[in-house]
Parts: sequence; structure tokens; C-alpha cells
Amino acid sequence: MAAQSALREKPIGVFDSGIGGLTVVRALRELLPNESIFYLGDTARVPYGGKSAPTVERYSLEITAMLLAEDCKTVVVACNTASALALPQLEATTPVPITGVIRPGAQAAVGATRNGHIGVIGTRATIKSGAYERALLALDPAVRISARACPLFVPLIEEGWLQGEITDQIVRQYLAPLVADGVDTLVLGCTHYPLLREAIGQFLGDTVRLVDSAQNCATAVAHLLEKKDLRADPGSSGQLAVALTDPPDAFLDVALKALQLEIGEVQLREVIHLTR
Ligand code: DGL
Repeated sequence: MAAQSALREKPIGVFDSGIGGLTVVRALRELLPNESIFYLGDTARVPYGGKSAPTVERYSLEITAMLLAEDCKTVVVACNTASALALPQLEATTPVPITGVIRPGAQAAVGATRNGHIGVIGTRATIKSGAYERALLALDPAVRISARACPLFVPLIEEGWLQGEITDQIVRQYLAPLVADGVDTLVLGCTHYPLLREAIGQFLGDTVRLVDSAQNCATAVAHLLEKKDLRADPGSSGQLAVALTDPPDAFLDVALKALQLEIGEVQLREVIHLTR
């Protein structure tokens, strides 16, 4: 009993290849303000989106081991690329419950579509993995899917170009074929993309519904904590700690401003290399 109540007060561990996963932290803070969060961004090795599956798997296992060393009660893979490529290995090897972003996003998309045609955008590695297709078809075998990698979105967002002419042109270039295909729902399958929500929404108008993997992931974490009796006491004041594997660059300020997120001093952590 006492052991379980001590466990409930431990932090939720959240990781991403870099800073983008703070979109998930923001959603978690809104939904679960009593929970403490330990966020770990692998900024020394970002981006994951153009790397091979074995490399993303290894990085994800290493970062998860670091979150376990911080005594996290659960791990949230706030990175679509890591969720797409490494979730089965993480689930098989990690002693605490794991939540990725793919399944919650797929569930929300299947619930949102009216014409059964869903668009998915993400990094090259996420799209190449076919993870969203598998998750969507497992939920509804009749659904049609148009998927597209948008590799320029991440550097654009990291540069802070969330609005403007060039951003609009790139958004149009990537998304026009999906609109022409007839999608009525679009999954923002990368943790960075919620920061482009306005530009994407402006191009798509009201006819296409946007599914934000951050919000849906937070909802899935809330359900998981409830189910496993891991919810922090309602009287707890949730703390947020942010650690990175390399000192922050200007994108941290861009993200914090866009997300209106307050963090204390950023901590630095050395990557724990697992022997293979
Ligand atoms: N966090 C990654 C994702 O959600 C995007 C950045 C990267 O390529 O590492 O897919």
C-alpha cells in the first residue's frame, strides 16, 4: 500500500529525439497537472527521422534506460520516429508501462474521419516504417491511407519559421497531393508538427480535420495511469524537469514560446551506451 503510493508520486518519463516532444509535455501538463514529468531530449543525436531502424532502436533503448535510472514510473515515447521503429523492443524490454504516439494518433484519426480516407505526415523514417498504416488498418481495415514524408518541416520549425510565405509554400507543396487524393483527416505524425498547426490549418481550411499526436498521447497516458493505479495524489504539485544530452540551442526558446511552457534550468545528461 505504502509502496504503491510512493510509486504514484514518481515522475512520468518522457523522451524525444530532441525538443519537439515538449508538445507532448504541454499536453500532459494540461491534462495531468498533478503529475511530475522528467523530460529527456536526445539533442546530441537529433534528428532520428533520417536514421536507420537499428540506430533509432538502439538510441531509444538507451534513452529509456536513462529514464529508468531517473526512477520514472512509466515511459512516454514522445517521438513518432522512435514509436514507429522501436516500440515493440521497448515494450519487450522495459519493466514499466510504455506509451507511444502512433496508436493514440491512429485511434483519434479513425474516430475523426467521415469519408474513411486518412492522410499521415511524418519524417522519412516514420513514413517508410509503415507503422501508421498498420495501426490504422488494425483499427479499421476499410480505411484508405495517403502517407507523405515532409522532411523540410522539422528544420523549418527549428528555425522558428512557423508562419510566412516560405512556410506556406512548403506546406502547400507537401500537402496539396494529399488534398487532391481526397483525405478528410490528417495525422500530424511528428512531434514537431503541432507547432505548424496554424500554417497547416490555414492551407487545409475546415474540410480536413487535424489529428495532433501530442494531445491523443496525453489522453492515452491518463487512461494508462488510471488503469495501473499510478495516478499521483490530486494534492500533488506536478514538477517539470527537462534534461538534454547536449546543451540547448535556439529551438528551445522557439518551442517554449510557441507552447507557452515554463521550465526551470535545463539539466545535462551523458548518454548511457548499452553494450550490444
Ligand atoms: N521527434 C521526431 C518525430 O517525432 C522528429 C525529429 C527527428 O527527426 O528526430 O518523428
